[in-house]
Amino acid sequence: MWRDCMDDSLPGADGRPRSRWTREQAAGIGRRGGNVAPVAGPPTVDPFPDLHIWDTWLLRDRHGGIAEVDGWRLAFSLTASADLLPGTRHDVAEIRCFCSRDGSEWRDAGPVFDGGALGQRQWAGSALYDDGDVYLFYTAAGREDADELTYTQRIAVAHGGSVTADADGVEIAGPWTHETLLEPDGDRYETEAQSRGMTYTFRDPWFFEDPASGETHLLFEANVPAPERDGDDAATSERREFNGCVGVAASPTGDPLSWELRPPLLDAVEVNQELERPHVVVADGCYYLFVCSHVHTFAPGVAGPDGLYGFVADRFEGPYRPLNGSGLVATNPSGARFQAYSWMAFAHGEEVLLQSFLNYHDFAGDSLDAVAELPEAEQRARFGGTLAPTLRLAVDGDETRLLGALDAWRIPAPDEPLPPVDESEVPDDDF
Ligand code: FRU
Repeated sequence: MWRDCMDDSLPGADGRPRSRWTREQAAGIGRRGGNVAPVAGPPTVDPFPDLHIWDTWLLRDRHGGIAEVDGWRLAFSLTASADLLPGTRHDVAEIRCFCSRDGSEWRDAGPVFDGGALGQRQWAGSALYDDGDVYLFYTAAGREDADELTYTQRIAVAHGGSVTADADGVEIAGPWTHETLLEPDGDRYETEAQSRGMTYTFRDPWFFEDPASGETHLLFEANVPAPERDGDDAATSERREFNGCVGVAASPTGDPLSWELRPPLLDAVEVNQELERPHVVVADGCYYLFVCSHVHTFAPGVAGPDGLYGFVADRFEGPYRPLNGSGLVATNPSGARFQAYSWMAFAHGEEVLLQSFLNYHDFAGDSLDAVAELPEAEQRARFGGTLAPTLRLAVDGDETRLLGALDAWRIPAPDEPLPPVDESEVPDDDF
């Protein structure tokens, strides 16, 4: 059952509540019955074997609902040729569109851009269908004027293109107008030059309109400036290099092309460097903020697996409390720690569904660096590079519980009934 989502935290800095994922909360992270996905194994459904496919998002309307264009649902994914070594795919990522009438059988509608996109390559984003207009928010990664590969990140949009549909599928076509929407300001959001630790982040824009206020927001992954302070010992200074946050911009007029940076919604200073693909699902009056993160981006002294982490508040601005006490919502089984990643949550009736991609299956190593040590043929053989089984999640106030899985590439329409839950599919051991 749903329950009211009340909180009694005090407002924080900037006159608005500023939530923090604390080391104390994160200390409770662990694999438990209810947060471990079933073993997926190698892909059983791979409709596009010539492509590596990873981060994926759906065409949605202003209210976050799955949009349809003449009966077709659209998914956008980062893709690269399956001939490439999986580890190099981020360097050449290209956004493609896939379409489906039934949410099970998907067709390739091709790359969405025709060469004019910003950045050396394009990373994750979100797609808005508003009054017949398409807005493709994306990360422009790397400077287009640099000769070598660079890691600069800007938040960009493409608009002005069209999407048309017929019995065979959809056609998504330019010409697109590409614009940079946001760059870090060095005050609320760390710039590349300020970064002391791993590569900074400023990416993964996610359109969100608050149903309570009608206010329009763009969430994104970023870092907060966390310079070394007088008196910090070496250990504290090093922990502060892990300074991930969920950034937010607002569009006071609701115009999807015009944004003002706002203070971060939540930070993870001294906890984690990367809060990836932040997005909000509203369910029964609660705001569920989800992010993905990796085992190797936790700060020294905090341990967590590759997983989907989440927070809940009774209003969009927060304050946010970590779900299940620690923040961990869904992870991979301990024997297949890298089997899936980049979970994207969307509401379906009283459940929340989690779509992700198959990463490295049947791999018992404990780090992605270990994958890179494998012979190339093995790296290819163990990489899924296609969508993973869609997970089913029960959410109840501050608690969540995995209920089972649907097939890979299964994106049911909002009014489509799901099969009865069989919780025996979900491991119930402590690991
Ligand atoms: C998550 C992610 C995103 C980024 C993309 C790059 O899997 O790291 O944050 O946009 O992958 O490939």
